[in-house]
Amino acid sequence: MDGAAGQDDTIRMAGGRIPDSFIQELLARTDIVEVIGSRIELKRAGKEYKGLSPFTHEKTPSFFVSPAKQMFFDFSSGKNGTAISFLMEYDRLGFVEAVEELARQAGLEVPREGGGPSRLVLEGPLDALAAAERFFRARLREHPPAIEYLKRRGVSGETAKLYGIGYAPDRWDALAQHFKDDPRHALAAGLLKKHAESGRLYDVFRNRIMFPIRDTRGRVIAFGGRTLGDDPAKYLNTPETALFHKGRNLFGLYEARQSSKAELPELLVVEGYMDTVMLAQYGVRHVVATLGTATTREHLNLLFKTTSRIVFCFDGDRAGRAAAWRALEQALPELYETREARFMFLPEGHDPDTLVQEEGREKFLARVERAATVSEFLLGELAQRVRLDTLDGRARLAALARPYLQRLREGPLRALILDELSRLTRLSRADLEHSLFGAEPRPALGASRRRALENERGDAPGVRPVKRALQLLLERPELAQRREDWRTLAQADVPGADLLVEALEFFRAHPQCRAHQLMEQWRDTPKAAALQRILGPGIELDAAAAEQEFLETVETLRRSGLRRRIAQFAAQSRTRELSAEELAEWRELTRQLSEPPLV
Ligand code: UTP
Ligand code: MN
Repeated sequence: MDGAAGQDDTIRMAGGRIPDSFIQELLARTDIVEVIGSRIELKRAGKEYKGLSPFTHEKTPSFFVSPAKQMFFDFSSGKNGTAISFLMEYDRLGFVEAVEELARQAGLEVPREGGGPSRLVLEGPLDALAAAERFFRARLREHPPAIEYLKRRGVSGETAKLYGIGYAPDRWDALAQHFKDDPRHALAAGLLKKHAESGRLYDVFRNRIMFPIRDTRGRVIAFGGRTLGDDPAKYLNTPETALFHKGRNLFGLYEARQSSKAELPELLVVEGYMDTVMLAQYGVRHVVATLGTATTREHLNLLFKTTSRIVFCFDGDRAGRAAAWRALEQALPELYETREARFMFLPEGHDPDTLVQEEGREKFLARVERAATVSEFLLGELAQRVRLDTLDGRARLAALARPYLQRLREGPLRALILDELSRLTRLSRADLEHSLFGAEPRPALGASRRRALENERGDAPGVRPVKRALQLLLERPELAQRREDWRTLAQADVPGADLLVEALEFFRAHPQCRAHQLMEQWRDTPKAAALQRILGPGIELDAAAAEQEFLETVETLRRSGLRRRIAQFAAQSRTRELSAEELAEWRELTRQLSEPPLV
């Protein structure tokens, strides 16, 4: 990531565009197996290489690298792509940086078209956010008071780098100037605002320490900024945008997941940016923060995708306990199978940031160990509202617990709480269960709906042969040389036929190229996305069988294209006089169709 220094204001240099021909040459000289193999462990598996997905926490390998296609395929995360895409994802580089990195390894210099002054070119809000992260980091390096502030609060340079902490200058137009050539994406990303009267753009974040908020893939989707001045808003978040929803994202989740190769046994949920960052600095890296909101069901689902135990960490004061209670209410329906939640409360006057600095890691972790279970927290709080030494009070406790227990699915946790409740109320389990849930067992939640959603959607008619032909072609691009003119295929009026023709023509024009080079040619177009959906690591067919299948498939498509054109002429001839050329073409098509298939 920091190999990008010196580049830190640039996503793509316009005027200095890298020629496509260079990208193709670079890819031809790069071996993706080497590039990926130097970063993660790969083992040979037949014609491919196999390893654990670097993008998820899988335990059985479903990450493949295909030397023939020079592409990777990750069934765990659904990502696939070329060596360039891999570096962009894994090293979190921009396109140009990834190209430069590969060029460095190949000993090539990156040529630029045109030259001229460099200009920031952004293709979407994510680019604007990535550019802003670099901008803020660069500003931090040159603003001693901000560095001083972080030092005073105990943040090390290493920690600042780990989270990408930066600084937004104390100006109205620092970022606005940076994006002046094309502010659209920065506006959409919530980094700039438009002044209502003057129409001028101004910076949302000013004189603030900036914390990038990332999605689970590590891409910056928003920022939180802490004021260094006396702004009444101590913290400011990016407003809700298409990319960022407070209730759906957590600060630090990406960094927490990056901290360990293995699945995290637990995740701590704290309230603040500084709490997260400081705990991480003390080696407690499995920590995330909610972004100034209460915990939502969506947060919980996101967390339980990464771990099976969540420990909520709240202030010990009344507000903290109220917040914990709301978190408990949200969590109850989500606690099933192996999922577990715990609640810890800090001594008054402390937050995790100050506490870990005062007590150190071990003592802090010991507190985490002692966190209350759901049963302890739930029944403990409810029991405080009644007098357990009276019959009335005990009956009331059962009534108070009722709505909470009803939100729990049937399972060990509910059984445990019922046992404890039975002990406290001195009611039998059977009596309790009857009063809480009535006689009928509760139906399992949504199983049939889930199945309905999982039902696969079929392909449109005719798409399958196009897909298959493309798959075979990308496996063996030399198949494109088998014919001169692929254009007639485009008449087949099947979705994707035009894509197939373009791919065929590309490989005909570039006989040395392979799948990855076509992918790069089409980068960031819907065509690349379509290819990505149908490509896989390898087709287990020998050369002759692959060729036979390819030619048959293509021939089927060609003939269906012929039939379609002929039908069109026939239909038109009933409504108008056809021209001489049209009649000639019609005859030619009919002749072609009457010939035996080419294969
Ligand atoms: P705190 O007020 O506890 O701040 O807010 P803090 O995290 O301890 O910050 P420092 O230590 O003073 O720097 C906790 C969290 O609530 C949200 C932020 O996410 C913050 O980290 N918050 C707080 C806001 O969104 N806006 C605010 O004005 C204050
Ligand atoms: Mn604090």
